[in-house]
Amino acid sequence: MEKEKFYITTPIYYTNNYLHIGHSYCTIAADTMARYKKLRGYDVKFLTGSDEHGQKIEEAAKQKGISPKEYVDHITEHMKELWKLLDINYDYYIRTTDEKHVKAVQKIFKALYDKGDIYKGHYEGLYCTPCETFFTESQLKDGKCPDCGREVHNVKEESYFFRLSKYQDALIKHIEENEDFISPASRKNEMINNFLKPGLEDLCVSRTSFKWGIPVTFDEGHVVYVWIDALSNYITALGYGSDDDSDFKKYWPADVHVVGKEIVRFHTIIWPAMLMALDLPLPKQIFGHGWLIIDGSKMSKSKGNVVDPKLLIDRYGVDAIRYFLLREVAFGQDGNFTNKALIERINFDLANDLGNLVSRTVGMVQKYFGDKLPLTQKEAPNVSEIIEFTKNVVIDTEKYMDKMQFSNALNEVWNLVRRLNKYIDETSPWVLAKDDSQKDLLANIMYVLAEGLRICAILISPAMPNTANSIFRQLCIEDASLKTWDSANEFGKMNKDVKVLKEDAIFPRIDIEKELQELEDIKQENINKAKENNQKEETKKDVECKEEIGFEDFLKMDFKMGKVLECEKIKKSNKLLKSKVKVGDKVLQIVSGIANHYSTEEMIGKKVVVLTNLKPAKLCGELSEGMILAASDDKNNLKLITVDDNDDIIEDGAEVK
Ligand code: ME8
Ligand code: MG
Repeated sequence: MEKEKFYITTPIYYTNNYLHIGHSYCTIAADTMARYKKLRGYDVKFLTGSDEHGQKIEEAAKQKGISPKEYVDHITEHMKELWKLLDINYDYYIRTTDEKHVKAVQKIFKALYDKGDIYKGHYEGLYCTPCETFFTESQLKDGKCPDCGREVHNVKEESYFFRLSKYQDALIKHIEENEDFISPASRKNEMINNFLKPGLEDLCVSRTSFKWGIPVTFDEGHVVYVWIDALSNYITALGYGSDDDSDFKKYWPADVHVVGKEIVRFHTIIWPAMLMALDLPLPKQIFGHGWLIIDGSKMSKSKGNVVDPKLLIDRYGVDAIRYFLLREVAFGQDGNFTNKALIERINFDLANDLGNLVSRTVGMVQKYFGDKLPLTQKEAPNVSEIIEFTKNVVIDTEKYMDKMQFSNALNEVWNLVRRLNKYIDETSPWVLAKDDSQKDLLANIMYVLAEGLRICAILISPAMPNTANSIFRQLCIEDASLKTWDSANEFGKMNKDVKVLKEDAIFPRIDIEKELQELEDIKQENINKAKENNQKEETKKDVECKEEIGFEDFLKMDFKMGKVLECEKIKKSNKLLKSKVKVGDKVLQIVSGIANHYSTEEMIGKKVVVLTNLKPAKLCGELSEGMILAASDDKNNLKLITVDDNDDIIEDGAEVK
């Protein structure tokens, strides 16, 4: 029988910056779901990738002095490394700079244009560059971007629009008729009441003010703007619009797009409208998860409150992080990230509950029976109750996993872990071990524990693959049929002569006080660094953002070419040089703060650009009748401005404008 398919995606991550633990949240959840479905026998396609175009990236690259492609290559490498560290087992990684994607997006854009669903117009609005978002006057907060608080600029440009408004009624109908299309249900009401019912506006889908994007094939200067590029990844990754679209035929429509709550709107309105316009089926579900909150706000690089996943993995291991994120926060809701909560989960749930069950079970088999249980066993007390309990746990875990309620699912497994620990206390194996006539009974108690543990390992394996494997190794389970999800329904499937091989504790206990202090120190260091960086940025911005002037203001300034005839140091100062500069038939005396950068000899004979109508002033007692122009940076470099004139054609007195 052919396997049923399951296509699951994460968003593609912006490559404008490094990732933090909040980003990992989404990927870990999707990976857990993908592993679960694989374990249940589905033909799974799990997609993730990177979103590599846009003005933000163009600017970030420029600041670093590298090309946008170099910049995104670097960040993408970093993302892939992180996914590896987090055991994210994706089946395909899409980059929006992939040629296959670029070509397909161009086709999609053209097809929508030919159909009349994309048309040319003008965009005018208040634009926040870092957020890549237009705002209306009323959306601004104190005249600034409501999201990041930075300046917005008035932008008017020719651009293409997608006829989003046309699909409004069809969207409402689809959302209302398909109960599970938007999940959790609260997000559905938000979309209908806040966005769809008030009315949709057509969407700006091309820009001309930056270059780093997919070119519109039929109109030079236009690049595809954000959503048509980004959202299409879910189908271009499957080969839609390419020579080989067999995966598209097999896996589309997606079973679930897992996305953060702030992009649910784009995935439940723009994306389905695009698909309707392309006559393609809609994804079955958009699952909007909440945010990881830290100190009351969303993690953000500029606040310095980001938690670096690498640091956590180094300290606690990847499974502890995966477990914590999935267990601590109900998937769909916002959740607080605190170091204390993390460490307590590790100590109580992992080191105590699960860690103890493993080490006690394996340790006792070894201690009482050597490396293997005997085949002769006598039915232990309460076995049928344990079997019944386990059966219910498997059913409930499955039910929660199917709904992506990871926290509830793990809680179910921990009910079993705790039940088995209690079973150890109830049966007191250490007492039975003293009495040879109780060996058969003791063997069966150990078997019940080992079998329960095998089932726990299966149930946690999507979330914690390494821990599951360690348990399988310690119980010497190699047979793949004992690791399948279905076999969790068969208590007693494992042979009675269970072998064991003890390993080190999977989750060493942590000294909470000491650990919290160390983490706090690291955090303070990061916050201070971020503050320093922000201050640097601010001073840079002050220089960049001088007020606009009109052309008539510019014309007021009289820039001319000058030639330095004489030059000497001003004695009372170690920074100033005094030059006699010939400008046509006038000679001006000009004082400049350039003594640390140019010698008097170097100055004589130099052609310079002079602002000649600056009001005369005295510097260190010397008259200065203008200004020699130079470029300088914050690293104490300074160079005079000259003209591109090796042939010496331009004479002093020539106008500069
Ligand atoms: O939005 N807690 O990319 P992105 C939980 N490129 N999730 C978080 C989070 C936090 N603190 N911070 C970020 C984009 N995320 C677009 C998507 S899809 C066609 C294009 C999640 O890198 C966020 O909610 O800004 C989103 O789902 C994902 O990380 C990528 O965010
Ligand atoms: Mg975002």
